[in-house]
Amino acid sequence: MDIRILLVAGARPNFMKIAPLVHELGLCDGNIAWKLMHTGQHYDYEMSKVFFEELNIPEPSYFLNVGSGSHAEQTARVMLEFEKVCLKERPDAVVVVGDVNSTLACAITAKKLDIRVAHVESGLRSGDMSMPEEINRIVTDSISDYLFVSERSGIKNLEREGRRKEQIFFVGNIMIDALYYSLNKLKSERKSKPEFFKRWGAVHHEYAVATLHRPSNVDNNEKLRDILSAFTEISKDMPLYFPVHPRTMSNIEKFKLNSLLSDSGIIITPPLSYLDFLSMWKDSSLVFTDSGGIQEETTGLGVPCFTIRENTERPITVEEGTNTLVGTTKSGILRAYSLFKRGVRKKGRVPELWDGKAAMRIVKQLFEEEAQRHS
Ligand code: UD1
Repeated sequence: MDIRILLVAGARPNFMKIAPLVHELGLCDGNIAWKLMHTGQHYDYEMSKVFFEELNIPEPSYFLNVGSGSHAEQTARVMLEFEKVCLKERPDAVVVVGDVNSTLACAITAKKLDIRVAHVESGLRSGDMSMPEEINRIVTDSISDYLFVSERSGIKNLEREGRRKEQIFFVGNIMIDALYYSLNKLKSERKSKPEFFKRWGAVHHEYAVATLHRPSNVDNNEKLRDILSAFTEISKDMPLYFPVHPRTMSNIEKFKLNSLLSDSGIIITPPLSYLDFLSMWKDSSLVFTDSGGIQEETTGLGVPCFTIRENTERPITVEEGTNTLVGTTKSGILRAYSLFKRGVRKKGRVPELWDGKAAMRIVKQLFEEEAQRHS
């Protein structure tokens, strides 16, 4: 009998975690029947479709088209629509990834229909309950049946929260699977300089890259102004590429901060595709970010990363990788930059099981667990 799996994706940071699973499931010889469902939490071409194209993810079988809204609205809309899909498909297990609202909404919906839930990137904790993602992580993990962990801190966190050892599987980091896949793709497909360099400026040997989208950094006028003025200062010394997230762009406009950017050496771009962004940051001197995934990817390739947050749910990137937490003030960011310029740099190493084979371990384990339940 076939094991039936429903994969869930919703927002930009989900797509690079779903792609390796889709590729791995594609290699399975008939014992697993799977379908992909996209909630539509992210819907712009450059926030969604281009990732499907570049990461070779097939068209989803279902697209829920939930769009933006408050947390409650967005979560509720996903739940209402996903319930219909679950009732129609009746999968044995639903696989959710990461920590976005779609992850939480689909985990709750499936579990209440007595469908098993597998959570990929389980166990990460920032300890910061003001982050919506932290709530999503804790709730999702508390009801999931299979907990797939990317770094050892996740095992400790889950055990502390009372999860059983037999449910926890240390499989490595699936983001790194997508990273290696895409590096190969870049090598084989792109012989010339990435298109964005031609579009947005000369190729510099030394440049910085920045991304910023966390509500705690971009929804407050003073905070956003402070961080952007740090970027402005840095751009006087080194070109700084800044692909701007839609949330951040709408706040820059709302708080009238455009002039701060236009009077600087910052090179503003729209959100970039996965391959364009990878081409950009992999050869950069350093990256500033408040993203979760970029902390891991930079550690994967040994690029210095300065994280504009007070905490991280991915401590291994700081303990073993190239990541440094610099806080969210202008002075903190500039202090970190000045140390970097003086040659203070972390060497970093690639953490355990960040080897491009996480999806293989996940699919194998999921198959074995489900096969046991069917027998
Ligand atoms: C979501 C995730 C966050 C993740 C981030 C990456 C949650 C709670 N947050 O935050 O963990 O790091 O995605 O991007 O799930 N918008 C568009 N086009 C789109 C999508 C969004 O213009 O395709 C705009 C809308 O105005 C929307 C805003 O961006 O209101 C924010 O989108 P939303 O999905 O609410 O959260 P993110 O900030 O993207």
